[in-house]
Amino acid sequence: PAAPLIDPFARAITYLRVSVTDRCDFRCAYCMSEDMTFLPKAEILSLEELDRLCSSFVRLGVRKLRITGGEPLVRRDIMWLFDRLGRHLDGGGLEELTLTTNGSQLSRYADQLYKAGVRRINVSLDTLDPDKFKTITRWGKFDKVMQGLEAAKQAGLQVKINAVALKGVNDEEIHELVAWCGREGFDLTFIEVMPMGDIGPELRLDQYWPLTEVRRELATRWTLDESSHRTGGPARYFSCRETGGRIGFITPLTHNFCESCNRVRLTCTGTLFMCLGQEDAADLRAPLRASEADEAVEQAIREAISRKPKGHDFIIDREQGTHGVAARHMSTTGG
Ligand code: GTP
Ligand code: 5AD
Ligand code: SF4
Repeated sequence: PAAPLIDPFARAITYLRVSVTDRCDFRCAYCMSEDMTFLPKAEILSLEELDRLCSSFVRLGVRKLRITGGEPLVRRDIMWLFDRLGRHLDGGGLEELTLTTNGSQLSRYADQLYKAGVRRINVSLDTLDPDKFKTITRWGKFDKVMQGLEAAKQAGLQVKINAVALKGVNDEEIHELVAWCGREGFDLTFIEVMPMGDIGPELRLDQYWPLTEVRRELATRWTLDESSHRTGGPARYFSCRETGGRIGFITPLTHNFCESCNRVRLTCTGTLFMCLGQEDAADLRAPLRASEADEAVEQAIREAISRKPKGHDFIIDREQGTHGVAARHMSTTGG
């Protein structure tokens, strides 16, 4: 077997996030500007090429693949890729094949995802109020997401709701999110907003709501017991005594977790980003297209991992301002 991917800080890279499209049918205010320009189709890797790249990563020790976007389920024929990637499960080296989605296409795809080997999905949903949903997602259709979640449940997919904590937007709703997820049997993860892409520094400051404060607010109504549950992602989990549900916290700003980073990100053009908050990248498309054999690609992957940075430098602070802002929007790598 190939030697594992180890970065300069002795972190083993076993988790690949793959953005299959930069497009999305929503325009969430913290993720995109309303007038986004998207990549021309000619720039984008074919599904066959994405499959080849993913297979190389699995050969090099990646155990968890997360398909992201944009919105991954708006890419044409995307189920072909899930089916292909599913062949690495069950002894093929891959332990988890999953995705992060806005939920809008789940009623159509939930069953097929399950058949491809997906067991657990993360669905971005910051509010249960249809009007607020409209404000946040701009183009989103709340009812479609609710139908999608129901279809996911019916298909046997375990659901985790991702809620970005947004001051002045969903701050009065966190208790309801906890109660609702508990009733639905969904896990729930709160996320600190990260300064990705230029959406205006004031907006970030206005949006940013530290999860230390969210935790304090939650404690006024719920008993949260620390849990040893781990997914291979950055969240730390608690179990909620009253609902029996699991609640995770992703705290890049108030509690940096880079020390235990195990992941890198591939974009739909074949660029590998070594860290969410840094520009360091490697082009895998050129070596991929230069040869039918995978040696050159795998060499390029190793070279890239050998210069993975230590971590992000995100700061969002009234006094210090917003720093460490990554130029690309979150939708380039899907988080
Ligand atoms: P699980 O497998 O359920 O743990 O998924 P995940 O949390 O790894 O993935 P998801 O796509 O649901 O991401 C949730 C949030 O975590 C998004 O806002 C991501 O941007 C953020 N996130 C994931 N990985 C990293 C990371 O390496 N660094 C930072 N700063 N944020 C991350
Ligand atoms: N900060 C934090 N999370 C974000 N997401 C999108 N943009 C941001 C941001 N700027 C979340 C989405 C999705 C996940 C992949 O990333 O809500 O759940
Ligand atoms: Fe890893 Fe970079 Fe994310 Fe930190 S910010 S956890 S180093 S990808």
